[in-house]
Amino acid sequence: MFGKKIGDLSKGVFFTAKVLSKVEKTGSSIRNVLYKEYFERGVEDYKLLKQALHFALETTRRYNFLDHIIKIVLPKVFDEDFPLLIKSLLRIATYQIVFLKEKPEDIANILKPLILIKLRKSDKISKEEVFTHLFKVESLIKKEKIIPETNYVERLTYTTFHPEWICKYFIDLLGLEDAEKLLQNNNLQKPTWLRVNTLLSNRKNVASFLREEGVFIEFDEDFPDVLRVIEEGKKPVTLSNPYKKGLVFIQDKASCAAAHILDAKPEDFVIDLCAAPGMKTTHIAQFMKNMGFVLAIDINYYRAKMIKKNMKKSGVKNVEILCTDGRILKLKPGKKPDKILVDAPCSGSGTFQTHPEEKWRLTPSKIEKYALLQENLLSSAINLVKVGGEIVFSTCSLFLEEGEELITKICNKYSVEVVEKEVEGGKVVKNGWRFYPPETKGFFISKMRKYAEQKS
Ligand SMILES: C[S@@+](CC[C@H](N)C(=O)[O-])C[C@H]1O[C@@H](n2cnc3c(N)ncnc32)[C@H](O)[C@@H]1O
Repeated sequence: MFGKKIGDLSKGVFFTAKVLSKVEKTGSSIRNVLYKEYFERGVEDYKLLKQALHFALETTRRYNFLDHIIKIVLPKVFDEDFPLLIKSLLRIATYQIVFLKEKPEDIANILKPLILIKLRKSDKISKEEVFTHLFKVESLIKKEKIIPETNYVERLTYTTFHPEWICKYFIDLLGLEDAEKLLQNNNLQKPTWLRVNTLLSNRKNVASFLREEGVFIEFDEDFPDVLRVIEEGKKPVTLSNPYKKGLVFIQDKASCAAAHILDAKPEDFVIDLCAAPGMKTTHIAQFMKNMGFVLAIDINYYRAKMIKKNMKKSGVKNVEILCTDGRILKLKPGKKPDKILVDAPCSGSGTFQTHPEEKWRLTPSKIEKYALLQENLLSSAINLVKVGGEIVFSTCSLFLEEGEELITKICNKYSVEVVEKEVEGGKVVKNGWRFYPPETKGFFISKMRKYAEQKS
């Protein structure tokens, strides 16, 4: 990790701890904080970036287990006024000892320069206490059974690293064995997927441009514009020429499936009701060969500006952006949209692989709130679309409330019916299709047709 010299190791661990502290303090995502911190350093060190991301994700993924151990060994870490940076350092150190089987004396050597510089008298902990903690962790995991045996739900929380209520939800839904499989898959690494911008290039050319920069890919069998990265180059794909020129976007295969299912035609009028940052809008424009008309809506002004940036980068010209609330959108009398995509805001529970911080923040009441927002957005889309027109709804969620159950409710309440068809790569479920980790993010897609004007 982080090179071989103690100085490099300390630098890497300190950088990761700083990121984790900021993530906890601000409620931002690991990736946002990490990239901001990294680029503010002004020093190009891709190895540090890659490894810090890895450490930040792997430590955060296991917070409940690591905190359980730290609570036994050094409970004051969870006092409100305990310094966040030291707490983050201890979580990383505990991860290294428990999961990477690093020796406490090696970790102590790495932490020593940090502790000496960073610990102040006011910090409520001495360097001796920190080092004793490391040795106690090691002896604890050697001696004791750390995971409680009594309760199978509690056990699952520590073996799969998920909050208890999420474990309970999926045990009730799938049974213990399948729930465990699903939750364990959230801890595996997800492949990087790329979407080729067919307005500017093709799969073969993009593959050979990427190869020149040390990025090796394979063609996806299900979608003809999707690539899977099998070997990354020295630099991140985002710094490769094909990416900078807009020939290729980083976009999960499941998320690419939404535009394939919408299947917009060059003559269509399409609304993308939750469009920012425009990944699916630009994908839809590809299907329409830059013809027809796409109205891209997003409520968030700053995110809506990103659609424009992505359009420019990808050569998309048939899109107009409107920053407004999709729930109250009104159109001038005239042609009604043929198709609407509602890629709705959601719990993000399908992205725990890449955003593990979110699983510790999610609550059942947040899911209820998202489901209501999704219903309101769908109700608006149904009102806007022409009779005979189609609506595609998608969420990166694993919960039925933001998927199958919501669509049943919508079909009972409004004049829409589910469209059934074969979709490559997706699993057919009630009311639509699902994609699952670890191959892709967890994703639900449904396609509906409006069969009559809604009676008010
Ligand atoms: C899942 S993201 C969309 C991602 C986008 N479709 C893409 O592929 O790049 C959901 C988006 O919905 C937007 N949003 C949330 N509430 C909204 C509302 N009431 N009306 C319109 N957009 C909304 C958020 O700002 C966010 O950009």
